[in-house]
Formats: sequence, C-alpha cells, structure tokens
Amino acid sequence: MLTMKDIIREGHPTLRAVAEEVVFPLSDDMIKLGQDMHDFLKNSQDPVLAKKYELRGGVGLAAPQLNFSKRIIAVEIPNMEEENGKPLLSAVMYNPKLVSHSVQQACLEEGEGCLSVDRPVPGYVVRQARITLTYQDAQGTQHKIRLKNYAAIVVQHELDHLNGIMFYDHINDKEPFFAPDDVLLIN
Ligand code: NI
Repeated sequence: MLTMKDIIREGHPTLRAVAEEVVFPLSDDMIKLGQDMHDFLKNSQDPVLAKKYELRGGVGLAAPQLNFSKRIIAVEIPNMEEENGKPLLSAVMYNPKLVSHSVQQACLEEGEGCLSVDRPVPGYVVRQARITLTYQDAQGTQHKIRLKNYAAIVVQHELDHLNGIMFYDHINDKEPFFAPDDVLLIN
C-alpha cells in the first residue's frame, strides 16, 4: 500500500513536468498504480488506518505525485450531506481531459492544500465552477461527466498536476484573498 513516503514533495522536478498519456490496453503496473492511488485516498479517510499509517487525509491524487509522469488521477470525495451515503465522486481516471467549462468561476473559501505540499499556502485558487470531463477507466471505456463546485475544484487541482501546475501558482501574491465579485465562494 502507498503511504506518505511514496508521495514526492514540492521541489521535485516530476511535479513540474507535463505527464504522458496512458496507452491502452493498460499494463498491469498502470492498473495497479491507479488502484493503489485510489486505496490511498480511501485509507487516508479512514480514521483508524490514517492514524496507524500516518496518512494525511486526501480527496484527490495524481500519478506525478507518486513520481510517475502519467496522466492518471484518483478521486474519492465523500458526500458531506449524507454521513454514510455514497461518495460524491469515486473514480480512477486515465487520460482525463477537460472538454468544456462554465463562464462562472469558483474557489474554496478555505483555500487549497496538497499532499505534496507540507505547509499551508493561504489564498484563493480561482477555478471553473462547472466542468465537463472525459476520461477512460481501467478497462479503456470512455466516460463523460459533468461536475460542479467542490468536485469540479478537486478534479481541476488534480488535472493541474498532470500539467506541472501547483495550486499556489494560481494564488495572487499581492492579494492572496482577492477574488472578483462574481466568483462563487465554496465553503
Ligand atoms: Ni495536489
């Protein structure tokens, strides 16, 4: 299983590289990597396992964070409104691609964090409020999904990792908590 030791941190060149598309049919290694990434997120949200293995809680992870420069992301977003309900989004996505987005922008009121960044970086990360995304699953089946608000923000954070972009690249240095009036603040 993956632990924090497997996650590379800011300053590592792989986090600044543009990751390569994954070729289908997938190799066993690429299937396992996706599963391991997804398991890491689930384990990190389990209070007992997180404590035992010292995992920082996460809702998204991208293959470059494991030092594999491949276009793979995993997301596990709990449904905050329903305690034991189905997750809001739970998937491993190969070759995810943003195909369209809203004009409306949004950002998390609390700012963002990253498992590859061991320090808080305060500030608004303004992104698209709604996105349409295509990706392939491990079998190579193509999916097209629409996401909004929190789930859209998480996926955009992970997509950035595939392009060598860190969340703080989007933060305004001079006024970290500046956002135009029409940006939706998500809490
Ligand atoms: Ni991150």
